[in-house]
Amino acid sequence: MSERDHKVSRRQFLSYTLTGVGGFMAAGMLMPMIRFALDPALKAGAESDMQLVCELDDLTDVPQRFTWSFTQVDSWYESQVEHEAYIYLDGDKVVALSSVCTHLGCTVAYNEDASEFQCPCHGGRFEEDGTNIAGTPPTRPLDVFEVVVEGNQVYLGQVSQRT
Ligand code: FES
Repeated sequence: MSERDHKVSRRQFLSYTLTGVGGFMAAGMLMPMIRFALDPALKAGAESDMQLVCELDDLTDVPQRFTWSFTQVDSWYESQVEHEAYIYLDGDKVVALSSVCTHLGCTVAYNEDASEFQCPCHGGRFEEDGTNIAGTPPTRPLDVFEVVVEGNQVYLGQVSQRT
C-alpha cells in the first residue's frame, strides 16, 4: 500500500472528529438519565431495609408504641427518617401496625381502655388488630410492617397495605 492510501481527507477528519465529540457529549447527557431511571432497580436488594426496633421479650398481646429512626441517603441529600409502629403478639406471630391513619394520614394512638386505635383528626377508629371500624372515615385497615424475628430481636422493614 502506498502512503497515499492512508491519507485522511479534511472532510473525513472533520466527520470523525465531530462524530467523536458529538458521541461524547450525548453520552454525558444520557448517562445521568439512564442512571436516574435505573436507580430504584440498582438499590433494590443492595442493602437491607430492615431496622432493629425492639426485643421479643418487650412484646405482649397489647399493642405498644415503638419508634426508631435511621439515616436515609437520596443521592447527595441525607435525612433522618423517623418511624413508629404499634407492635403486639398475635399468638406466636409478631404484628407491627403503622400508626398512620388510612383516611388522611394523621397519627393514630392506641386507647387501651377502649382497646382500639383512635385518630384525633376526624374521629377515625380501628380495632386492636388494625381493622377499620365501619361508620368512621377510614375505609381500610392500618398498614402493616414487614416483620423479621431473629433470636430475641425484632426487625421491621417495608410498610404495606393489607390484602
Ligand atoms: S385522618 Fe384519621 S380519621 Fe381522618
